[in-house]
Amino acid sequence: MGRLFATEKAGGRALYKLHAVTVFVGICLVLCYRATHVPAAGAGRAAWLGMLAAELWFGFYWVITQSSRWCPIRRRAFKDRLAARYGDRLPCVDIFVCTADPQSEPPSLVMATVLSLMAYNYPPEKLNVYLSDDGGSILTFYALWETAAFAKHWLPFCRRYNIEPRSPAAYFAESDRPNDPRALEEWSFVKDLYQEMTERINSAVKSGKVPEEMKVNHKGFSEWNTGGTSKDHQPIVQILIDGKDRGAVDIDGNVLPTLVYMAREKRPQYHHNFKAGAMNALIRVSSVISKSPIIMNVDCDMYSNNSDSIREALCFFLDEEMGHKIAFVQYPQNYNNMTKNNIYGNSLNVINQVELAGMDTWGGPLYIGTGCFHRRETLCGRSFNKDYKEDWDQGIKTQQPIDQTEEKAKSLATCTYEHNTQWGNEIGLKYGCPVEDVITGLAIHCRGWESVYNNPPRAAFVGVAPTTISQTILQHKRWSEGANGELVTGIRNQRFLPWKEAANDAHHKATLKRSEALKYLQ
Ligand SMILES: *[C@@H]1O[C@H](CO)[C@@H](O)[C@H](O)[C@H]1NC(C)=O
Ligand SMILES: *[C@@H]1O[C@H](CO)[C@@H](O)[C@H](O)[C@H]1NC(C)=O
Repeated sequence: MGRLFATEKAGGRALYKLHAVTVFVGICLVLCYRATHVPAAGAGRAAWLGMLAAELWFGFYWVITQSSRWCPIRRRAFKDRLAARYGDRLPCVDIFVCTADPQSEPPSLVMATVLSLMAYNYPPEKLNVYLSDDGGSILTFYALWETAAFAKHWLPFCRRYNIEPRSPAAYFAESDRPNDPRALEEWSFVKDLYQEMTERINSAVKSGKVPEEMKVNHKGFSEWNTGGTSKDHQPIVQILIDGKDRGAVDIDGNVLPTLVYMAREKRPQYHHNFKAGAMNALIRVSSVISKSPIIMNVDCDMYSNNSDSIREALCFFLDEEMGHKIAFVQYPQNYNNMTKNNIYGNSLNVINQVELAGMDTWGGPLYIGTGCFHRRETLCGRSFNKDYKEDWDQGIKTQQPIDQTEEKAKSLATCTYEHNTQWGNEIGLKYGCPVEDVITGLAIHCRGWESVYNNPPRAAFVGVAPTTISQTILQHKRWSEGANGELVTGIRNQRFLPWKEAANDAHHKATLKRSEALKYLQ
């Protein structure tokens, strides 16, 4: 029996090593120069000392970084073998999408992402999509309702014509009109439906109001009658499509994936721990709705560009020889909105092509917070044990009434649930650090697991990159700030569309200062 994936040496290693040797010689020559040109005591000596210290430090740092660049590897997954061996007997998968604010992350963009995830080439009854809305906004909830209705047309369309990518926004922007008249008719019909939906969502966001007839037709909207705000509201969990319910079908009569909206409880007196807090709430909420053994998470602005990514990731987990050691499978972040000649370096080539692939040699890449498939068990704190056998068939089979499930889920998304528990420490994503994803990944490695980096030729997840110099600078400012002080000032929300968020923060702070000042004046 063949393996489900192959590991190969990445190309260009010899060239890189040659390059590294020249850099190393350069560093040695610089140090030689310093050693032979010591100025006499005086002002020159202080400058010389400073330069030497900087060069020693950078030289040392460079040597250390070679560990992640010296021997990159490449993985290749064989999804045909997976199909031959397992057919549709595949594990259930929970997909987590996190969004924070309908103003900086337009719901129509988020919904295109959600649709691309629902349209994965995977048995729909085994697919569960969860949207965490940290803004607790009725607008996002409304957009998800519209999406649930549109999915009934979109999913059969994707399947019938086997289209890629399956984000309607990206697909209609890229694809040409089909030539076949029947296909063209359906293409135009679905395109019009999509455009109308987007317009309805955008106008609701613009006016800040949801159409009245929508509100009376669906009981879910009553959650917003209590007058909560984005920072002060009760937990909300709504199952918009219940995949276990045989009645939830698309226009072709096929079952739809489960679709769940969650806004965890927010109260001003409790710290919400940003994205890590949202992810942990999703882990718990999903544990009473679907409890799939595989959890995938992706940022709300990164759509799926390849409908086979889940099957590819499973090639690693289900491999007979290595699979039992693998805790997570990380995909790179790719962007479609690159400027000409990539002048701001947004394509992250060094990280995507070299460093993550280089770390894969030493037990696996870091977890970078998006485009990652986890085992639920490891995310919940399980240590590696070579005798442990994962039960891939686990998942919730009993059929409880939907409102009971929702009530139970809500009780798991409250502010106080985590008090005096190991959540945020031993269980789930770690709290207290702005790069929660990286330290969570490292903690998983410390518990004995390995990880895998999969960078297929066709990008699996594609996001939007900043396209102007000011957006780029803001993004890099945020990334470098990630390492210090942000938690203290508490301005960090989440890292999606970071440059927009920074602009919002600045605006928000200015508004706050004004209102504080007014308070004192009164
Ligand atoms: C993509 O980039 C173009 C310019 O390069 C810009 O006009 C457009 O708004 C960008 N798209 C998004 C979604 O940011
Ligand atoms: C996304 O997938 C398409 C094929 O559907 C491919 O042509 C394109 O290069 C991919 N996008 C990126 C950014 O790799």
